[in-house]
Amino acid sequence: MRLGGRSLTQPRAQPCAHAGRSAAGPAAMAPAALTAALLGGGLLLAAWRWLRAAARRGAGAGASMRGKTVIITGANSGLGRAAATELLRMKARVIMGCRDRARAERAAREIRAELGEREAAEGGGELVVRELDLASLRSVRAFCHRVLQEEPRLDVLINNAGIFQCPYMKTEDGFEMQFGVNHLGHFLLTNLLLGLLKNSAPSRIVVVSSKLYKYGEINFEDLNSDISYNKSFCYSRSKLANILFARELARRLEGTGVTVNSLHPGIVRTNLGRHVNIPLLAKPLFNLVSWAFFKTPLEGAQTSIYLASSPDVEGVSGKYFGDCKEEELLPKAMDDLVARKLWDISEVMVGLLK
Ligand SMILES: NC(=O)c1ccc[n+]([C@@H]2O[C@H](COP(=O)([O-])OP(=O)(O)OC[C@H]3O[C@@H](n4cnc5c(N)ncnc54)[C@H](OP(=O)(O)O)[C@@H]3O)[C@@H](O)[C@H]2O)c1
Repeated sequence: MRLGGRSLTQPRAQPCAHAGRSAAGPAAMAPAALTAALLGGGLLLAAWRWLRAAARRGAGAGASMRGKTVIITGANSGLGRAAATELLRMKARVIMGCRDRARAERAAREIRAELGEREAAEGGGELVVRELDLASLRSVRAFCHRVLQEEPRLDVLINNAGIFQCPYMKTEDGFEMQFGVNHLGHFLLTNLLLGLLKNSAPSRIVVVSSKLYKYGEINFEDLNSDISYNKSFCYSRSKLANILFARELARRLEGTGVTVNSLHPGIVRTNLGRHVNIPLLAKPLFNLVSWAFFKTPLEGAQTSIYLASSPDVEGVSGKYFGDCKEEELLPKAMDDLVARKLWDISEVMVGLLK
């Protein structure tokens, strides 16, 4: 192999006339300097991560959720699981709405073990697993039916589950998968639980969106991607739909004591990228970069926990948050006409309106 006309096997031209004369000097120093640089860099990075994590933890510190019931969709993995752990620590009754019972039961066991006997002995919190497949309207209806039968109250609903950039797939009801799970499944779920949320007011709905909403459009002429499918666009469209839904719902819920806010969690190291193919050779580098620069699930879940539990956001509704602070939206996410039209069409798509 040749680079710039010089074979890589040929020795480099010496940049300095003295090079090589002070035998042991630079040559012996190089490995030591490299080790020191790597060690120093590693320590600095670890310290920076630790400081960053410390700054980001504790959105719900001190708050108690004793006596409150919280539903979290997709609570067996990533952000949902981290939020479930923290809200259980705060003594909430946490209902994990998950599509795979075995995965969910395993996560629940691990969460209980993580919190340990001391927390369990204090009593108060409870973790409950319920099956919920957002890619099936039948499953959403069955889940809500059971919740309405069993739960006397619902204080917080966290619409967290999500699917990211999957190949073209359809839900059980024939909807494009990302729009179907991220938007339509949650749309039906929320609507079916609204009565219980209103009866439990003050109560809260938290919608996990993404900053990638910026690259989406609500293209009403092909909501189901029958004409064309682009997996990045469809993820962004579903996340834009999350924000429009949250804003329209907040408008409809004015005066009821039920608040709705949406959020973006930042870039978080979770299982969300399961459909993204990273070349085998690039994986170690990706793992290193994501370890160093992505948030941990606990860090990423802070805004969900904050919106679910903090007294700071009592009565706040229709807003969009990141890092536990309100953030501005692009005009496309504040278009009330589009939000209403999307609401009307979604009602028909999920069968709420014939
Ligand atoms: N990670 C990030 O950087 C990032 C950035 C912006 C926004 N978000 C948003 O954060 C939310 C949580 O994602 P995450 O990062 O924690 O990813 P994750 O680790 O993959 O968790 C996603 C959860 O959603 C569940 N889910 C997927 N399809 C479902 C379905 N049909 N029915 C019910 N549950 C389903 C998954 O269940 P299984 O485990 O059974 O698949 C899993 O529990 C998503 O809404 C995502 O769009 C994440």
